Amino acid sequence: MYVCVCKAVTDRQVTQAISQGACNRRELMQCTGAGGVCGKCAASLKALLNENTQNRGMEAHAA
Ligand code: FES
Repeated sequence: MYVCVCKAVTDRQVTQAISQGACNRRELMQCTGAGGVCGKCAASLKALLNENTQNRGMEAHAA
């Protein structure tokens, strides 16, 4: 499913970027390009970040 239509970025790509260490929307934009055009996907990106960083606990901030 496309999360960011402008950049044709899928939820899979976003999840993968998060698992590789992206922990905020700015980093996601740098890694995938998502969120850099119209910004409509911001809420979806945030939701994916919340979902996928929760399980990491403090690990995400320690590195
Ligand atoms: S849908 Fe992501 S920037 Fe437009």
